[in-house]
Amino acid sequence: MHGFRHVAGRLHCERVLVEALARRHGTPLYVYSEQTMADHFVRLKAALGSLDPLICYAMKANSNLAVLRVFAGLGAGFDLVSGGELERALAAGADPGRCVFAGVGKTEDEIRLALAQGVYALNVESEPELVRIDRLASRMGRRAPVAIRVNPGVDARTHAKITTGTYENKFGIAFEQVAGMYRRASRLRGVWLRGVQMHIGSQLTEAGPFERAVRKVAPLAAELASRHGIEFFSIGGGAGIVYRPALASGEPRWWRSGAARGVLTPERYAAAVVPWLRPLGLRILLEPGRLLVGNAGILVTRVEYVKRTGRKTFVIVDAGMNDLIRPAFYDAYHEIVPLRRRGGGAVVSDVVGPICESGDWFCKGRPLPRVQAGEYLAICSAGAYGSVMGSNYNTRPQAAEVLVRGVRAALVRRRQALAEIWAGEQLAPWQGARAARRQP
Ligand code: LLP
Repeated sequence: MHGFRHVAGRLHCERVLVEALARRHGTPLYVYSEQTMADHFVRLKAALGSLDPLICYAMKANSNLAVLRVFAGLGAGFDLVSGGELERALAAGADPGRCVFAGVGKTEDEIRLALAQGVYALNVESEPELVRIDRLASRMGRRAPVAIRVNPGVDARTHAKITTGTYENKFGIAFEQVAGMYRRASRLRGVWLRGVQMHIGSQLTEAGPFERAVRKVAPLAAELASRHGIEFFSIGGGAGIVYRPALASGEPRWWRSGAARGVLTPERYAAAVVPWLRPLGLRILLEPGRLLVGNAGILVTRVEYVKRTGRKTFVIVDAGMNDLIRPAFYDAYHEIVPLRRRGGGAVVSDVVGPICESGDWFCKGRPLPRVQAGEYLAICSAGAYGSVMGSNYNTRPQAAEVLVRGVRAALVRRRQALAEIWAGEQLAPWQGARAARRQP
């Protein structure tokens, strides 16, 4: 969030007044700080310095083409999970040779596309998938570069819906079965055992689980290197961010060099894993998503009504769970600040959207500055898993997105037009051609 600050009581993204963007482009509006993304990338890379890792940005976190271009420009690779993401990365100018393809359900078409484009590795999540990759690669006269995803059986101590490293979930191959799977894979002619991969979960706020997982898998990686000649070890993503900043003299304080204890900074993350990784002599890959973009984005929304029921105060805004689903889905906390700071006391409020669901809320029972209809609010830390998880529920168009760099701002996704929402739909033949085809 370093890129977002109130200056003279007005929220700025870098050197651009956020309210001016809201007026020009309308709301709900995602606003991203390019400098913040770059800073986080550079800082993570520097913290891991001696490993000289390949950082594959997990593009599922925010796959806007302009965001991808920022990371491609910094030399990042990409972690992708669908043929669509591969096509998107290519459209943004990514080098497929720096892309890793994950996911438990890769289709034949997706595997063929990945092989034809020459991705760095396919991260394999099951034996049947390995067999399918071998068959397709053999038919194409190729050897598919693969890494098997190890499920280290480590509790990531994060939200149940985003933990992946225990045996209760669908991801990866149980630690105890991995060596045997590599042995069998080494007999497949269409497969090139290039690496080993793991990912234990998302929004981890302590270094401990990362250290435990890396410590557990590092000896296995060393053994796979000597037996099968693998060249890389990907430790996945998952480093968490600060969603609840400490308030320092009224200004939210996000992580920075002197971060409070308990905050997972890139340096603390690196200190936990580097000692176990460096002796391996393998190429190290990382797949961070949220850490790079989470605090580099806000969702700007306009207050439509303030509804007082006697029991509660509802601040009804023009953004909904279709724009940012994290509170509804994970009970996630997002800091909410008015774009214009002014005096006056706090009011315990629920900030809610217009959608016909009780789950359509951004905060509940939180002391917020008193606001009026027409004012704008920023929902913070919305750069990761925000716009990408958006939907058209209630036939609401997907929000526009703006990228800021210094004093410049550019619309990098226009607001979806209503007619685009149903453009792919048509009537059944028996419904007649005379149905209304009104265009909004
Ligand atoms: N690598 C793999 C294999 C993953 O599955 C993920 C995220 C990442 C890397 C990147 O994780 P990150 O560094 O961003 O934590 N929608 C949820 C998060 C889902 C994460 C899915 N996998 C949320 O809004 O919190």
